[in-house]
Amino acid sequence: MGERIAEEKLNEIREAADIVDIISDYVQLNKQGRNYFGLCPFHGENTPSFSVAPDKQIYHCFGCGAGGNVFSFLMDKEGLTFIEAAVKLAARTNIELPAETLTENKAKPASRDSQQMIEAHELLRKFYHHLLVNTKDGQHALEYLIKRGFTIESIEKFQIGYSLNSWDFVYKFLIKRGYSPELVERSGLIIKRDDGTYFDRFRERIMFPLLDSHGNTIAFSGRALGDDEPKYLNSPETAIFNKSKILYNFHLARPSLRKLQQAVLFEGFADVIAADKSGVINSIATMGTSLTEEHIALLRRNVQSVTICFDSDNAGIEAAYRAAKMLAEAGLNLRVALMPDGYDPDDYIKKYGEEKFKNDVIGASATLMTFKFLYYRRGKNLQNEGDRLLYIEEVLREISRLEKAVEKDHYLRQLASEFSLSLDALKQQQDEMSAAEGKKHQKGQSALKKKAPAARPTGQLRPAYHTAERCLIAHMLKNSELAYRVQDKLQGNTFNIDEHQAIITYLIGFYEEGHAPDLSGFLNYLNDNKLKRIVAEIEMMSINEEISDQELIDYIKQVLNYQKMLKIKEKEAEERDAERQKDFARAAAIATEIIQMRKSL
Ligand code: CTP
Ligand code: MN
Repeated sequence: MGERIAEEKLNEIREAADIVDIISDYVQLNKQGRNYFGLCPFHGENTPSFSVAPDKQIYHCFGCGAGGNVFSFLMDKEGLTFIEAAVKLAARTNIELPAETLTENKAKPASRDSQQMIEAHELLRKFYHHLLVNTKDGQHALEYLIKRGFTIESIEKFQIGYSLNSWDFVYKFLIKRGYSPELVERSGLIIKRDDGTYFDRFRERIMFPLLDSHGNTIAFSGRALGDDEPKYLNSPETAIFNKSKILYNFHLARPSLRKLQQAVLFEGFADVIAADKSGVINSIATMGTSLTEEHIALLRRNVQSVTICFDSDNAGIEAAYRAAKMLAEAGLNLRVALMPDGYDPDDYIKKYGEEKFKNDVIGASATLMTFKFLYYRRGKNLQNEGDRLLYIEEVLREISRLEKAVEKDHYLRQLASEFSLSLDALKQQQDEMSAAEGKKHQKGQSALKKKAPAARPTGQLRPAYHTAERCLIAHMLKNSELAYRVQDKLQGNTFNIDEHQAIITYLIGFYEEGHAPDLSGFLNYLNDNKLKRIVAEIEMMSINEEISDQELIDYIKQVLNYQKMLKIKEKEAEERDAERQKDFARAAAIATEIIQMRKSL
């Protein structure tokens, strides 16, 4: 990020733009002490929990956790990219930017070739749409859509179109406008025959334009009007279209994704369009492929939670399970929206209506764990003892992976009461599984990937190591020499909270690249929304200007002690294990080890 605007320019903009001034355009701010307070523009509230610190040039909401610097404020509030935000701030502060920056940030053509391909797609999008809504040729297609429940508003919003039943309409249309056949072929719109002539890829289909994140049309998906095969025909992968990076409706949904910090993920376009019509405007879908790492990275940059709403058939449930696992592993909060067997979201809305969809499906979505319970239940007869034991074991394994003790307890109780089992027995079995899992995790682990409780929302009681890590980060942000000192004192260990470790890894990188401590500059350097929020939250804590050596040592000790405690817990499980196997010699040896470990705390 930021390669397109010189670093000095960015600094100039940052210094000239006053965060209180900019945010005042959106929020009525009142001064209290050093900071300003107002109603958070990112979530609805009646009492102000949104604060702006002019000395640090950052904002933070204690209610929803939003936070960052003046750039991230505009990115989140207006749905802008970093560069777009910089351009806007430059204009506001009368800082001149090179002319290329100003034009480039509207459309970002990679090359002349790609630019032409996009133009051809844009032309066709308009023409296909015109054919559908205004012409006799497209009338039957329009009727088909209306009969399926598409509204004119949706057809306009999603720029849906119709491709004529012709072998060479697109070919002639584009060649006449000066595009070379080779370019049009490379863009996937026409196909070359053996004899060197060309024919149109899309014929007699409903055309859904696919847009990139800037709103450029880069491909199409064409749906057959009847039962023709394939049902959906997609553009091939081209220089401008890469399925594994594109999410349907991402461009239109982006402002609401950022604002709600939540996305609803569907399997099909028809579902997205129906959901959007119901008011679920933060709807997106993959292009008929499974979720890729690139999709997940894109989601992570924009939202904190994802609700999966897939077809309620076998394939859909399996796909939802896979997607849920991937998204949860990437640190996103997950929910799964459930429908009666056999429905897809589009059918459901047609049958039960928009309100019921919004309230009973999206609004009543299940937690990931509840979904997993249902998932493991499928195909089993719980009256049968074998099936039942297998089910309990599968569910216990999932419970043992949960990070929060309260959650574990909740689901264990649920399971115990459902199958009339003793809670103690379940707990014990689950502890064993946790210990086994823990061991597995610790082997092949990179420094950054250590599993630990994720950062909690503000206002909750936090364990000591959590606060210690945050205090250390607060000081490390102010003082590079201290940052290196903390790094040394950790002696190769990491912070317990993944996000905290990520922040200090970036921070050390920031200092190593020669930057001096600079909060707002560091926020720009961080490419990840969640991390930005946490940094802003940390900055809002009041800490002493100076940290004494003793304080430093105490904080580090708290960080390291937690890791030791985890190891002790593991040893204790091993000890119980040995005792159960009546291997008392081993149990005694482990007990001695535990005593040593406790002493070192
Ligand atoms: N898909 C595809 N190629 C196909 C069938 C499906 O690329 N031959 C993709 C499309 O992206 C489609 C998604 O998979 O949106 C979901 O497919 P499906 O559930 O079969 O379609 P629906 O969304 O139910 O579409 P419709 O309501 O038009 O039948
Ligand atoms: Mn459908």
